[in-house]
Amino acid sequence: MVLLLQLFALLQAKGLAAVAKVDTDAYIHVCKKGYFPCGNLSICLPQSFHCDGVKNCENAADEENCDDDSGWTNSFPVACQNLPEMAPKCSLHPYPKNCTCRETHLECTRAGLYSVPQISSHVTVLSLKRNNILSLPDEVFLMLTEMKYLYLQKNCLKTISKKAFFGLFKLQNLYLNHNCITSLTAGIFRDLHKLKWLILDENPIAKISQQLFTGLQSLSYLSVVKNSLEALPRNICAQIPHISWMDFASNHIKLLTSSTFLTCDKLKVLCIRDNQIGIVPKKTFSPLRRLTDLDLSQNLISKLLPSAFTELRHLEKVNLSFNPIDLHLNQFDSLRLLKSLSLEGIEISNINLRMFLPMKNLSHIYFKKFRYCTYAPHVRVCTPLTDGISTFENLLANNIQRIFVWVIACVTCFGNLFVLGMRSFIQSEYKTQTLSIKSLCCSDCLMGIYLFFVGIFDIKYQGQYKKYALIWMESLQCRIIGFLAMLSTEVSVLLLTFLTLEKYLVIVFPFTNKRLGKCQMVTMLTGIWITGFILATIPFWNEDFFGNYYGKNGMCFPMYSDQTEETGGKIYSLGIFLGVNLLAFIIIVFSYVSMFCSIQKTGVQTSDLRKDRHGEVAVANRFFFIVLSDAICWIPVFLLKILSLLEVEIPGTVTSWIVIFILPVNSALNPVLYTLTTSFFKEKFKQMINRYQRKFLLKNERKSLTASIVWTDDPLALNAGCLNQITLEDEVIAT
Ligand SMILES: *[C@@H]1O[C@H](CO)[C@@H](O)[C@H](O)[C@H]1NC(C)=O
Ligand SMILES: *[C@@H]1O[C@H](CO)[C@@H](O)[C@H](O)[C@H]1NC(C)=O
Ligand SMILES: *[C@@H]1O[C@H](CO)[C@@H](O)[C@H](O)[C@H]1NC(C)=O
Ligand SMILES: *[C@@H]1O[C@H](CO)[C@@H](O)[C@H](O)[C@H]1NC(C)=O
Repeated sequence: MVLLLQLFALLQAKGLAAVAKVDTDAYIHVCKKGYFPCGNLSICLPQSFHCDGVKNCENAADEENCDDDSGWTNSFPVACQNLPEMAPKCSLHPYPKNCTCRETHLECTRAGLYSVPQISSHVTVLSLKRNNILSLPDEVFLMLTEMKYLYLQKNCLKTISKKAFFGLFKLQNLYLNHNCITSLTAGIFRDLHKLKWLILDENPIAKISQQLFTGLQSLSYLSVVKNSLEALPRNICAQIPHISWMDFASNHIKLLTSSTFLTCDKLKVLCIRDNQIGIVPKKTFSPLRRLTDLDLSQNLISKLLPSAFTELRHLEKVNLSFNPIDLHLNQFDSLRLLKSLSLEGIEISNINLRMFLPMKNLSHIYFKKFRYCTYAPHVRVCTPLTDGISTFENLLANNIQRIFVWVIACVTCFGNLFVLGMRSFIQSEYKTQTLSIKSLCCSDCLMGIYLFFVGIFDIKYQGQYKKYALIWMESLQCRIIGFLAMLSTEVSVLLLTFLTLEKYLVIVFPFTNKRLGKCQMVTMLTGIWITGFILATIPFWNEDFFGNYYGKNGMCFPMYSDQTEETGGKIYSLGIFLGVNLLAFIIIVFSYVSMFCSIQKTGVQTSDLRKDRHGEVAVANRFFFIVLSDAICWIPVFLLKILSLLEVEIPGTVTSWIVIFILPVNSALNPVLYTLTTSFFKEKFKQMINRYQRKFLLKNERKSLTASIVWTDDPLALNAGCLNQITLEDEVIAT
């Protein structure tokens, strides 16, 4: 424990040194990639420190300008505004009973009206919200020539006759949202030359035509959100040349054509979110030279030409989130002024630094995965802030994991160290066997050490993991412990296979009796360790091909449950887990099954006199547990790999549970299975029991009990009939 504390203190000191290093780096004026300056100070902080709600810079510059206010979307007033603050006197007499009037504003919200009432022609603002007006007849507003704002929302308006809005020459804002309008006749807005805002949200309008907008030469804001539009008319801006904002979110638009936005050269904001657009033909957006905001999120776009945005040089904000899109490397090359880019929910399999580099002014980027942020180190704010394995605050997501990582680390480490000690102190006749078991203990112990380090770093980063996540995953420490875990699993797997094969040869072919000599055994074991070492080192050889192989998640274990990692690392991980390890697992299962069959056969042939059911059960049990522990350990990993091959989405938490609970199962159980249950330890144990029994039990009871224990322990001895063979095979099975 003292040792551990010292180790921890050492690590702490190292961590502090790392932070200090960051600070000294900071005095270089330009920050290195992934680091950003504290406003006008020369101190640099990592990407993840910015906008995390904690002031890390003296001048708090890391928490400034955090809101993504790029583009126009955020600067525009809310569409459904209330009537302006009214002056007390009314100048509209007479006016309907249920209404309130101040100056020339008339408010008739929830007035129980069934039709548009008679109103003085001086009215400038008229609200008829939330009444029961179902239709607007011809020329119903004809006299209201001074009207500037007309609110008609929530009436369930269904029929609006062609001439309903005639005469409203000064109308600026028209609200028709939340009604039951299915169609609007072309020419209906003929007289609304001054109209700036037209709001048609939440109606069942299925079709609009270019001619519908005839007369709206001043229109700058058009909103048709939540309707049933299936298409946009050709050259939609032909009649509304000053349109600067169009919102068609949540319709059923399936198609855009290259002539849809032909003359929309004043358009600044275009939102087509939540539609069913699949294909964006060439040059669709090229007329939109002034566009600053483009929202294409939640569509079915799978391909976007690299040239799709070439002419859109003023774009500041693009949202492509939740499209099944394959991005091109040069997709964003022309977007030099872009400040905000949303790519949430998008798998970017070909992600590359080059993809985001041309966007020099990018300050906010939104990804599906935490690890993508590494590819945009020049972007100050990048989300999400962590992967699924770790939460925002902690390396390990919850307390159960935190406790178990220590428990399992202790069990694995001390179990193996104990056995290692036992094997060293107690001389066995079978030195070669002992050697291989010791090797196994060493490799299993590494798994315990790995878990200890995970636990230590979890404590170190407690409460502020998200800040350090990237630094941690890129760190040497992470790579080293990942390497340890990999070395441990691979050496362990190879050793188990080797031990199994050795046993298999002895038992299935007992009379060839070709056991390995000490020298051969040492060579084999060295070979296995070297192989394990090479397997674990290979990913360090070529950083370009393998990427940061170990630092893919907070656990630093290269599970690669995710399909979109770099191909090099992905293939290697697949080769290790579904190649080497699966093969080893199959060999082990096959060998034990045939060993068991072989023993049972010889048992039946040679020991008819003493049908030793107990013995068979004991052997079967041990074999069963050896295979079971392997199966528990590896089958989930194989399943995970296969599922990820089938492109099933696997949450990060599953990976971390597998790494904490399931992978170490073998390492923790191996000392039990291969040493603590062997005849030697059993013998010691029995002696202890016997001594105990002599003191407390009656003589005859003791006899029968001892007899039965002896019977259960050496089934093979009885079958083989030769003393040497007896002990040999028992030790073989045991180890
Ligand atoms: C940084 O800016 C603040 C005000 O914005 C100013 O008071 C301060 O002197 C500046 N510091 C440096 C080092 O330029
Ligand atoms: C005023 O409104 C109430 C319900 O809100 C309704 O019952 C009543 O008929 C209305 N009066 C007039 C004159 O419309
Ligand atoms: C992008 O679109 C998605 C889905 O429509 C939305 O949730 C997200 O907030 C948008 N991002 C930005 C930065 O506006
Ligand atoms: C980036 O934005 C800043 C202001 O926000 C501007 O001064 C600068 O010119 C822009 N950079 C480029 C490459 O356009």
